[in-house]
Amino acid sequence: MSAVINLLNLKGGVGKTVSSINIAYSLAECGNKVLIADTDAQGNIATSMGVNGNELSITLADILSEAIDKDVSIKRITEAVISVGKVDILPSNSMLAGLDFKLMNAFGRETILKSITDKLRDTYDYIIIDCPPSLGLMVINALVASDYTLIPVEAHYLCFESLKIMLDTINMVKLKLNPKLEVAGIFLTMYQSRTSLSKGIKEMVNRTYGNSVKVFDDSIPYSVKAAEQTLYGKSIIELYPKHPISTAYKNISKELMKYGK
Ligand SMILES: Nc1ncnc2c1ncn2[C@@H]1O[C@H](COP(=O)(O)OP(=O)(O)O)[C@@H](O)[C@H]1O
Ligand SMILES: [Mg+2]
Repeated sequence: MSAVINLLNLKGGVGKTVSSINIAYSLAECGNKVLIADTDAQGNIATSMGVNGNELSITLADILSEAIDKDVSIKRITEAVISVGKVDILPSNSMLAGLDFKLMNAFGRETILKSITDKLRDTYDYIIIDCPPSLGLMVINALVASDYTLIPVEAHYLCFESLKIMLDTINMVKLKLNPKLEVAGIFLTMYQSRTSLSKGIKEMVNRTYGNSVKVFDDSIPYSVKAAEQTLYGKSIIELYPKHPISTAYKNISKELMKYGK
């Protein structure tokens, strides 16, 4: 059995995709078999891993579309899976955006992604779901398919309102649709330890949510190296294994492994 973990934040550009990839690679380096499922129509998982999403003949969008109408076999699902070094990806591209309407009118519309990821649980130790920056049906599907939610929060700009909306949504999904769902924790991204802004935001998150939700001690430092991932199509863990970004992602992943599979 595997653990399914989604990375969620309603804001774009906070480091969901970079975190999904580097946590996946950290887990894989510890001997786990890991899949990243991209539920964002921007298709950044493929792009960041050096795969041209627009040249893919089959993506998660096709599999989701088929799963709306019928039971999709594991053989068919794996046709969309690509191996990128130590991890596998279930990529997306802009085709996913066109699926919203079909999903909206589907029977069991909140459980379509779950019907796919559940079939992959025996194959993988961890399935990481990279979420889009919105609270649409795709995010609800990701929450219903998951055991845990991880929330990356940007240390430059804190939106308590959106954190509250996210935690309320997670609770609502837990209550109505997926009683197994837990918040694995919040971690800070783009953290600049010398600035009082970063420190202040971490303190505020700890003060406001620390009693009810785990706030990871490790924060992901701000570094232009993070952007090089897209340039070279490789995770930061592989490009710069000793970089403080890699160390922080490895530490967070080790903590995640305590939650088990
Ligand atoms: N730790 C970091 N330091 C500096 N830049 C980062 C860091 N993490 C991510 N970035 C950059 O921020 C941008 C948004 O990151 P991304 O992971 O795509 O966010 P999201 O998936 O939440 O939209 C990208 O250009 C990425 O290279
Ligand atoms: Mg993203």
